[in-house]
Amino acid sequence: MSSGSTTRRKLLAGSGGMLAGSSSLRAQNYPLRDHSRVPAMDELATVMEFEAVAFAKLSREAYTFTAHGSEGEFTLRRNRQAFDWVELIPKGVVDVSAVDTASEILGTPMAFPIMAAPTAGHAELHRDGELATHQGATAAANTPMIVSNNASFPMDKIAEAAKGPLWFQLYPRQDLNATRALLDAAVAAGSKAVVVTVDQQASYSERQIHNRHLAAPRQVRSGGAPANPYRVPESRLWYEWKYADSVRSMLKVPMIAKGILTAEDARLCMEHGFDAIYVSNHGGRSLDYDPSTLEVLPEIVDAVEGRVPVLFDSGILSGTDVLKALALGAKAACIGRGIRWGLGAYGAPGVQRVLEILQAELVMAMAQTGKPNLASLDRTMVRTQFP
Ligand SMILES: Cc1cc2nc3c(=O)[nH]c(=O)nc-3n(C[C@H](O)[C@H](O)[C@H](O)COP(=O)(O)O)c2cc1C
Repeated sequence: MSSGSTTRRKLLAGSGGMLAGSSSLRAQNYPLRDHSRVPAMDELATVMEFEAVAFAKLSREAYTFTAHGSEGEFTLRRNRQAFDWVELIPKGVVDVSAVDTASEILGTPMAFPIMAAPTAGHAELHRDGELATHQGATAAANTPMIVSNNASFPMDKIAEAAKGPLWFQLYPRQDLNATRALLDAAVAAGSKAVVVTVDQQASYSERQIHNRHLAAPRQVRSGGAPANPYRVPESRLWYEWKYADSVRSMLKVPMIAKGILTAEDARLCMEHGFDAIYVSNHGGRSLDYDPSTLEVLPEIVDAVEGRVPVLFDSGILSGTDVLKALALGAKAACIGRGIRWGLGAYGAPGVQRVLEILQAELVMAMAQTGKPNLASLDRTMVRTQFP
């Protein structure tokens, strides 16, 4: 063979060099090679799976802001663990050919005893933010949505986005005129009730701080560390029960206290005119080493003696979780992160799908435990083994 002829080996070597040297090919290949497959929404069967998809799609910072709990995340873990300490006891032979989950809370009709908990800033999960959440919740059997005081969109815009019921969540502010203006705007926009968050949600998230090389810890980024020695923002230090009296006098709609973890506080809430108690530890984002909400729910329900409805959240990710909370006396279960994972993963359809999975799982669990309606749920259907 002459020295000038082209051999197969030379040809391959030459084209390999071209491929290696092509910056456009390298630029295209890199992201394709590095992405794992994102499943289509219909492939997901449980709410927990939405977290993995949201993780794949969101920035590290947005993911961590939703996922984290306070400090070492003891309470975050315990909220989930507590559901494992409650067993469901099926009741023998019962006609459950029609399971009825309808109820009404404080004048808001509900096809299922499930609501969207108030959570801040949905726009970092999806560009349509709370508009998409409201659309998804409405599409899922008119699920009521509690709009966070720190929503990405104003209440009137959220109200325009869909027709389902809305409540508004208030973070107390010392300035009563500012409080009144906020409440008036929320009620004018159609809020059927106001949730006043009374827990001192303020702790550091170690997870965010450990992300320091990927994204600035939020506490540092937004306004710097508080000036007091407790690391609790000034806006949350001054709460007193008399504030509740002031808010009560401003409102014609029902008022709910969110963040209650003791029987004593539940009684005080009723004395101060709250129309419902919302048992919550902020999804493990308030004081770390708070008890799990499921563990304190029975004593609060006992203290309330049926005088006002008790709502519940923190840790719910499945229909059996909802059923356990209802069996222990809650009238409705609220969902924080599950809905955020749905929104971050697929927008409004993701929110709808997460809620529909929970609804379907609740119906199935009620049928399997022999409970045809919400009135038939009580503590005899669970065996609790809290430590
Ligand atoms: C990212 C995030 C933001 C939140 N923002 C608020 C808020 O603005 N107001 C509020 O009252 N609760 C807020 N919460 C607490 C939720 O209302 C709810 O108590 C908690 O998410 C329930 O626990 P779960 O996430 O395990 O369902 C937030 C929770 C998360 C996860």
